Amino acid sequence: MMPGRFIVVDGVEGAGKTTQLAFMGDYLKRAGQQVVPTREPGGTALGEEIRDLLLSHRHDGMALTTETLLMFAARAEHLERIVRPALAAGRWVLCDRFTDATYAYQGGGRGLPLERIAILENWVQDDLHPDLTLLLDLPVAVGLERAGRRGAADRFEREEGAFFERVRAIYLERAKQRPNRYRVVDASRPVEAVRAEVEAILADWLERSDG
Ligand code: TMP
Repeated sequence: MMPGRFIVVDGVEGAGKTTQLAFMGDYLKRAGQQVVPTREPGGTALGEEIRDLLLSHRHDGMALTTETLLMFAARAEHLERIVRPALAAGRWVLCDRFTDATYAYQGGGRGLPLERIAILENWVQDDLHPDLTLLLDLPVAVGLERAGRRGAADRFEREEGAFFERVRAIYLERAKQRPNRYRVVDASRPVEAVRAEVEAILADWLERSDG
């Protein structure tokens, strides 16, 4: 059996990930794939509990090392229980955020040295990396304005603009360093235009990867 594929959508707050992920899931199903939609932090019962700890204001002021280890604890559980079994069974995993978010938020946003994240990445993932990462990119002010319309801010959403500028810069830098694995999409445009580009990227990628 062909192993499945691991596709990630990531980006700053308010980039429209949820809408595009729903569209991508439908598109891939129509293309004949069995799709497993999931998210990080979360995706398992334990991971969702860890997500709750990470996002909640009950733990404002959580140490950065704790925050990073909890991200990777949720990730370890997610990879072992959901992602690896799905890929082994030939399914396509469609994941809302992954390790780029740790580089961007804990590394860029909060200032954790990126080498430390690389150590955890190697330990937890071994050689498992997404086959394709779509980075939905838009100016921070536009994203925050959109995200602000969605109600109460969690422990990350309430950070200031400069934090998200650093987050965005790391995402863009990582995408630039690995052009084979990343596609950067201008998410500041109307949702239909973004959807059309995402569709074109997926179609092209499916053709190239013989999927
Ligand atoms: P979401 O709002 O897109 O579901 O993501 C939850 C928050 O978690 C978001 O603000 C980004 C943050 N996050 C990190 O800080 N590091 C990570 O590794 C991941 C996966 C998410």
